[in-house]
Amino acid sequence: MAGDQFTIASFKTAKEKGERIAMLTAYDYTTACLLEEAGVDSLLVGDSLGMVMLGYENTLQVTMDDMIHHTKAVARGRRRALLIGDMPFLSYHVSTKEAVRNAGRFVQEGNAQAVKLEGGQDVLDKIRAIIKAQIPVLGHLGLTPQSVNAMGGFKLQGKDIETARRILDDALLLQDAGVFGIVLECVPAGLARIITEKLEIPTIGIGAGVHCDGQVLVIQDLLGMFRQMRPKFVKTYAQGGDATVAAVQQYAQEVRSGGFPGQEHSFAIDEAILTKL
Ligand code: KIV
Repeated sequence: MAGDQFTIASFKTAKEKGERIAMLTAYDYTTACLLEEAGVDSLLVGDSLGMVMLGYENTLQVTMDDMIHHTKAVARGRRRALLIGDMPFLSYHVSTKEAVRNAGRFVQEGNAQAVKLEGGQDVLDKIRAIIKAQIPVLGHLGLTPQSVNAMGGFKLQGKDIETARRILDDALLLQDAGVFGIVLECVPAGLARIITEKLEIPTIGIGAGVHCDGQVLVIQDLLGMFRQMRPKFVKTYAQGGDATVAAVQQYAQEVRSGGFPGQEHSFAIDEAILTKL
């Protein structure tokens, strides 16, 4: 699908054609430009930015203003990929009215094309209201990091029959409510396979095995930039953290030794002008 805009409709078409969807998180303009150059299908401004960009312990302190600030930056670098803003904790829990207003901010101020929010049955009324306001919604089930306290940590979800059935039921409810896809986070691969087979909309896995219709990763994890936590499901495609430390060490050493800047980084002036000074 390279070349054309990747839209909500492309999600459905991709599933029908058996083409896997490549989604990544992005939080800033420079990264968005690079991910576009690499040809990803969808950019998610995840509330994971609270951890990897802002240094919080979890995502619960992230605010709507944080999310809008970063979504605007990513939108400036977006070209073809579908841009999705992640609704932060408490932005859709208090009332349906607030949920619609906050989802609307992602579109109106952030220039996002869709929003994502966590949860199943409990948030169905909010999802329906947002979709009714013509804002496409991506669901998120399994490990939902905004429930970290209720879940007792970042843990695999859906291991037993009750929880596995609840996630499957929630997926079907979300599909009925009109979401255009569902992120499945940290659930067993076999459960993700059954959900993927039963749904007409695509599943996007993160720690959910190979059977999902697409995958998403946190860009800092993929690049090896975030060293504070490394979940089992992360594949590190580059040693960006090591490369950054090595480059900065070399820079600091060259500054101290006078090796940088060289002639090629300096601007010349006529000697005659200097003698007049
Ligand atoms: O916040 C986030 O980055 C996410 C993805 C990991 C799915 O929700």
